[in-house]
Amino acid sequence: MAGRLEGKVGLITGAARGQGAAEAELFAREGARLLITDILEEPLAKLAEEISSGGHEIVARRLDVQEEEPWSEAASFAEKRFGRIDFLINNAGIADPAGIEDTTRERWDQIIAINQTGVWLGMRAVLPAMRRAGGGSIVNISSIFGIIGSGTSAAYHGTKGAVRLLTKTAAVEYASESIRVNSIHPGYIDTPMAREAVPEDMRDQFAPLIAATVPLGRMGVSQDIAYGALYLASDESAYMTGSELVIDGGVTAR
Ligand SMILES: NC(=O)c1ccc[n+]([C@@H]2O[C@H](COP(=O)([O-])OP(=O)(O)OC[C@H]3O[C@@H](n4cnc5c(N)ncnc54)[C@H](O)[C@@H]3O)[C@@H](O)[C@H]2O)c1
Repeated sequence: MAGRLEGKVGLITGAARGQGAAEAELFAREGARLLITDILEEPLAKLAEEISSGGHEIVARRLDVQEEEPWSEAASFAEKRFGRIDFLINNAGIADPAGIEDTTRERWDQIIAINQTGVWLGMRAVLPAMRRAGGGSIVNISSIFGIIGSGTSAAYHGTKGAVRLLTKTAAVEYASESIRVNSIHPGYIDTPMAREAVPEDMRDQFAPLIAATVPLGRMGVSQDIAYGALYLASDESAYMTGSELVIDGGVTAR
């Protein structure tokens, strides 16, 4: 049976670990040829080796999403290497629990540069290749905290809200060219990012504490998000653009 991404070429950012790595593994199994990128070069290269040893076409390349020129280099590299770009998963991001008064200007600018400017730069870089391919799908990873607020993470939540509306704006702007743009809003997902946000001595208690606040009774895993991204990257979601796919175990339904 043909894979759900058979014949498609995609680029994933922040793919060295967590959700991005799960997407790379799943998408390769579903037939996509991939350029995976991150700033963590060693685990990224190791992941690409593991995936390619399974007979899949995948290349790893360093890309810091806040830098302009490397984005166009990565897009041209992918198009030259694989002949086209069909989808982009704008997944790279950093978190910070600091509130309004605890956030320094420097940290504020850094979080915006990676989580928000990085998403815009990524879309801008791949759009010409998608146009040449006759269409495409861009998936921007926001958060439930791009929809609702909380009493922490002022800069992080600000960027995730921005990604939500940037997605809708791009969706409308590029719909006539068959380039679809959707956002995913993960809830509490057990990844290195989520674990690093908790003091080391509390990490074992962390998952059960969070799980108690989730209607489905558990933290999410990276694969929960990867399956949503797979749907949005594939032609199965051909009539979806400007949408927000919430994958949160019911947290925002309360
Ligand atoms: N884990 C959660 O609970 C959760 C919830 C909602 C949204 N998200 C979002 O999901 C996405 C993936 O997060 P995750 O949980 O897998 O986190 P993670 O920290 O495990 O993975 C994020 C990856 O992004 C990379 N990255 C960071 N800065 C980068 C930069 N400047 N350029 C390129 N790559 C960079 C990291 O090296 C890392 O490999 C992020 O956008 C995050 O904000 C996560």
